[in-house]
Amino acid sequence: MSNTDRLNTLLEEDRTFEPPESFKAQANFNDPSVYERAANDPEGYWAEQAEYLSWFKPYSEVLNWNPPHAEWFVDGKLNAAYNCVDRHREGPNKNKAAIIWEGEQGNSQIFTYDMLGREVDKAAHMLKQLGVNKGDRVAIYLPMIPELPISMLACAKIGAIHSVVFAAYSAKALNDRITDTEAKLLITSDGSRRSGKILPLKDNADKAVKDTTVETTLVINNIGPDANTAWNKALDVDWGTLKQKMPTTPLEHEEMDAEDPLFILYTSGTTGKPKGIVHTTGGYLTGVNHSVRSIFDLKDEDVFWCTADIGWVTGHSYSVYGPLSAGGTSVMYEGGPAYPERDRFWDIVEKYGVTIFYTAPTSIRTFMKWGHEYVEKHDLSSLRLLGTVGEPINPEAWMWYHKYVGGEKCPIVDTWWQTENGSAMIAPLPGITTTKPGSATKPAPGIIADIFDGEGNPVEPGNGGYLVIKQPWPSMLRTVWGDDQRFKDSYFGDYDGIYTSGDVAHKDKDGYIWILGRDDDVINVSGHRLGASELESAIVSHDAVAEAAVIGRSDDIKGEAITAFVTLKERAQSSDELHDEIVAQIVDQIGKIARPDEVIFTASLPKTSSAKIMRRLLRDIAEGKAVGDTSTLEDPSVVEDLKEKYAEAE
Ligand code: WTA
Repeated sequence: MSNTDRLNTLLEEDRTFEPPESFKAQANFNDPSVYERAANDPEGYWAEQAEYLSWFKPYSEVLNWNPPHAEWFVDGKLNAAYNCVDRHREGPNKNKAAIIWEGEQGNSQIFTYDMLGREVDKAAHMLKQLGVNKGDRVAIYLPMIPELPISMLACAKIGAIHSVVFAAYSAKALNDRITDTEAKLLITSDGSRRSGKILPLKDNADKAVKDTTVETTLVINNIGPDANTAWNKALDVDWGTLKQKMPTTPLEHEEMDAEDPLFILYTSGTTGKPKGIVHTTGGYLTGVNHSVRSIFDLKDEDVFWCTADIGWVTGHSYSVYGPLSAGGTSVMYEGGPAYPERDRFWDIVEKYGVTIFYTAPTSIRTFMKWGHEYVEKHDLSSLRLLGTVGEPINPEAWMWYHKYVGGEKCPIVDTWWQTENGSAMIAPLPGITTTKPGSATKPAPGIIADIFDGEGNPVEPGNGGYLVIKQPWPSMLRTVWGDDQRFKDSYFGDYDGIYTSGDVAHKDKDGYIWILGRDDDVINVSGHRLGASELESAIVSHDAVAEAAVIGRSDDIKGEAITAFVTLKERAQSSDELHDEIVAQIVDQIGKIARPDEVIFTASLPKTSSAKIMRRLLRDIAEGKAVGDTSTLEDPSVVEDLKEKYAEAE
C-alpha cells in the first residue's frame, strides 16, 4: 500500500483499546506520570534505567553529547555477557531456562542460565585459543541454532565485536561484510534446515572468506553427513572437536567501557553499500533492557518469543540481549512457520507456554490468509501480551491478531524502531497506553521524537511529515563502521543534532503517531530492509544490462514486493533466459530475500530533465494507478510504453 493509501485507511480508523484492568494492575509500568518525568529529565530517567544493569565500575557522567556523537555512561565499565548470563547464574535464576530452543524436526534443547554460562565460557575459550582478542571482529553466519546466541555472548564476554550476517544472505554479501569489518574469524555451520530442506551455508562461507582477513572458519556440525561439506584443512576448525579440548573453568569477563562497541550489524540505506551500524555496550544494553521491562512488561515468570531471525536487529535485541539481560526466558525456533503444518507457531506457543509473542505484520497477514482454524487448534491461554515490528501494520491485521491470537485479552504493542535505534522507540506501554489499531502510538519514555514538516518545524496534530528524534538516546548507533562521515550525512545531515529516521508519519488529533513508510528508496519486503540501489547495482553488473530501476510496489502479504525495470544494451535481446539470469544475479550478489517479483524489460526509464529516475512514477505504474504529474519528465511518452510492458509482464 502506498503511503497515501495507507494514510487514507488510517484516517478512517477510530477504534481504541484500553489496557485491560487486570493487565494494568500487574504491569511493571502503570503510572502514566512516567512520561512526564522522563520528558522533563531524560538523562535522569536513563540513569535510573542503567541501574538495572550490573556495572563493574560506575560511570562518571550520564551523557556527553557532541552532536552527532553521543557518549553514554562515560567511564562506566561493564560486560554484556556478565549482564545477560553470569549474573543470573549467581542468583535464584541459576537453574531457570534462559533459552528454549526448538528445532524444525520437533527436537528441543533447554539451556538454563547456568548451562548457557558454561557453553558461553567454552566458546569464549575457543575464541581466545583461536587468537581472537578484545576489539577484534568476528563474523557469524549461522542459522537459528543455540550456537548463534552462544557465539554472540562469547564474543561479548571477551570483548570481541560480533557481526552477525543473516543466513539467507549470499556468499557475496557475506564477503562484503567480512571485508568491511576485517573480521579475523568466521563462525558458521555445515548447513541449515528450513522447511524440510538443507541450505548449504558452509559452501557460501567458503566462497566468502576467499581473499579476506579471515584466519579461521569455526564450523558447527549442525546437519551432519547429509550436508556433505568440503573441508579446508588450512582454515577450518571443527567447533565440537575444539570444544572438547577446552577447560571447564570459567573465563574472566573483559571489563568493557560503556562506549566499547558490542556489535556491528549491516543494514541498507538509500545509496551505496549496506552500512555497518555500530552499537555499544552500556547504552545499547540499557536501551534493550529498559524496553523489555517497559514495552514488553517482562517479568521473571514470562516466556518471551520473538520470532525474528537473530540475523536481524530484532533478534539481537529481543531474542538475545533484551530478555537475557533481564533474566527472562527466550524461545528460539530454527525452522519454517508452515512446517510440518501451518499451525507450527501456535504449537510452539502452547508447548512452551509462551506469554509474550512478538512477530512481524507480514507473518500476521500470512496467518490470516491461512485461516484462523490453525490458531484455534491450540490452547493459547498462556499469552498475555503481543507485539509487532518491522513495517506498518494494517488495522485489519491488527484486529485479527487481537481476536484470534490474543483472545481479545492481550494488549498489542506495535513497536516502531530501526537497526540504528537499537531498541523499540515508538510503542505503547501496555499497562498505560490506549492503543489504536495501526498506530505505534507514542514515543517510549525517555525518547524525544516528533514529526517535522519540510521546513523542520513540528507538525500540528492532524498533519504528517518526517519522523525525527530530537535528542540522543542510549541505544542509538554511534557511527557507521569505518565511515563516520556517512553516519553524519545519513542521519544528522538535515538538522543539527536531530536524527532523521527516513520514515514518514502522521500525527493524529491525540498526538498519536501513525508510521506511513519510508521516505527514501529503501524497500521493506516482509519487514526486511533492502536498498533499491543495492539491487540496481547487482542488476547492472550483468553484461547485457544498461540501466535498472528497482521499486517496492504494494503487496497484500509482504507489505512491499520488488519490481525491477531494466533497459538493455543495444546488442542485447530480452528473453526468458535473460530474465532468469538477472534474477540469479541478484540472488547471487545479495541473497534469496532480494529475489524480485517482476523483472520488466523496457526501452527507457522515466527521467527528469536532470536525469533522475522517477521511481514514484514507476511505483504508480506497477500498482496500476493513474500516473501522477509527468510534466517534469524529459520524455513523457516513456510512460505509455512502460504501462504496456508492465501489462504484458503480468
Ligand atoms: C520500518 C527493524 C511501521 C520502518 C526493527 C523503519 C516500521 C524500518 C515499524 C527499520 C513499525 C519498523 N511500524 N514501520 N512498527 N517497525 N518499521 O532497520 O520503515 O530492519 O525505518 O529495523 O522498518 O527496519 P530495520
